[in-house]
Amino acid sequence: MKPVFIDFQEHGDWRGQLVALEEDKNIPFQIKRVYFMYDTLPNVVRGKHSHKSLYQVLFCVTGACTIGLDDGRERVDIRLDRPSRGLLIGPNVWREMYDFMPGAVLMVLASEYYDENDYIRDYRAFLDSVKEKQE
Ligand code: TYD
Repeated sequence: MKPVFIDFQEHGDWRGQLVALEEDKNIPFQIKRVYFMYDTLPNVVRGKHSHKSLYQVLFCVTGACTIGLDDGRERVDIRLDRPSRGLLIGPNVWREMYDFMPGAVLMVLASEYYDENDYIRDYRAFLDSVKEKQE
């Protein structure tokens, strides 16, 4: 599967860099929720779920981490290592986040409020759900 990156304009000058995020403009949905992960331990794998309808853009705003994406057919692993690069993830994609550099901050913009009913947390159930959609 092909990852969808959004590379944001860096408004850089002699003082440093600035990136601006705007809903329905450079973020392709209305932003209902923002959350971030930090102090992640080195051997931890987070995520391990898919969503039924949620869209998200992930940024490693500090440091780096790796995102594994799996659409039920193939898997890609992407190193997110610059604050100006977002990774867009839509519904029906299994995701895992791992290899967090010490001090890494992974920020996520989401199209919906937190809703546990939108999650599929069992990998077999995820594979069954994507197979159903392909039929
Ligand atoms: P979890 O789904 O385990 O995070 P990850 O996908 O990164 O592995 O969420 C950890 C806890 O945080 C869990 O108790 C649910 C809670 N949570 C919220 O309350 N709101 C949110 O927006 C998110 C993403 C999680």
